[in-house]
Amino acid sequence: MTEAVLLVGGQGTRLRPLTVNTPKPMLPVAGVPFTVHQITRARDAGVTRIILATSYKAEVFKAFIDDADLGIEVVIATEDEPLGTGGAIRHALPYLESGPDEPVLIFNGDVLSGVDLDGLVTHHRDTGSDVTLYLTPVEDPRAYGLVPTDHEGRVTAFLEKPKTDEEIVTNNINAGCYVFKRSIIDSIPAGRPVSVERETFPGLLDSGALVTGVVDSGYWLDLGTPLSFVQGSCDLVLGSAPSPAVPQTGDYLELPEAQVASDAQVHGGSVIGRGAVVGAGAVVTGAVVFDGAEIADGAHVAHSIVGAGAVVGAGTVLNRAVIGDGAVIGRGNELLEGVRVWPEARIPDGSVRFSSDA
Ligand code: GDD
Ligand code: MG
Repeated sequence: MTEAVLLVGGQGTRLRPLTVNTPKPMLPVAGVPFTVHQITRARDAGVTRIILATSYKAEVFKAFIDDADLGIEVVIATEDEPLGTGGAIRHALPYLESGPDEPVLIFNGDVLSGVDLDGLVTHHRDTGSDVTLYLTPVEDPRAYGLVPTDHEGRVTAFLEKPKTDEEIVTNNINAGCYVFKRSIIDSIPAGRPVSVERETFPGLLDSGALVTGVVDSGYWLDLGTPLSFVQGSCDLVLGSAPSPAVPQTGDYLELPEAQVASDAQVHGGSVIGRGAVVGAGAVVTGAVVFDGAEIADGAHVAHSIVGAGAVVGAGTVLNRAVIGDGAVIGRGNELLEGVRVWPEARIPDGSVRFSSDA
């Protein structure tokens, strides 16, 4: 049996206002809370017990997990105060049943990937590593943890969100999934915030621990920003990102009780949530429409997220916008390029327009 810890306690600040009511891993992605994609992937890879390390809005996870049957034992551990990534792993220790030399998988709670988890654990055992990190190459690594390795795959440094060009020594980043020898978790200080990236990994390297990296260049995405959230959801629906929990892949996904007008166009991996409405002549492209939202007649919604119960008025255009739960956008508005509307806000008819000749 293999155990895992899923880190889901972050505030999801970059996804506000969607995360004002719902923690990031509980936001619906391709029909189910994001965390379900990760839990069912872990289950299919042979993980039998998973600890959900919660902090921010822990009660939302509890309510969901109490009623869900995901075919795997899910245990909720809640930090009274957020303890950071390393502190959360240490806080999960009393909930683990693994022996000191056994491997424990750790996942960041916002990463979608197709990595071979079984292969990662096998590598960890075969090399006798203390910690094994899943690494992935990205074009611009600055927003991540940079992880250079030597010719034997041994990690030589860990540079979290580098500030200077000299620190950009590799394109391989920490992909947010690790295998820890359980006894290494014991050595993380308890009862105070610890960053696994800024404190634990550099400390392990300084102390001569064997930390190895496995580079995998398959599908990988961190869903921490609105654009990547939309991208991840669309990729799951289109079938280009792997998950056992997608009800059905195709050009778009319409959840039960959604109503899409016969002449509306919905494509690009869009999701139309439960009970949501898409009106006549509306166009929805590569977008996520949460449960009970309404896209009125002739509206155009592209690469955007429309929160639960929100209304997008007739003829309104959204592109790369985020609309909070219950907000009402009147008719004939244009909300483009990163605009975020807070939950329950009201935007009157025809009051927002972008002009290219300004
Ligand atoms: N339980 C708990 N408590 N979880 C936390 C806490 C906490 O105090 N703080 C953060 N987390 C969880 C978040 O919910 C998320 O799932 C995960 O830890 C990582 O936090 P993010 O806020 O998403 O970090 P990031 O995306 O900036 O950077 C991390 O991920 C990158 C890959 O996506 C780092 O691990 C980077 O090194 C890595 O490259
Ligand atoms: Mg992240």
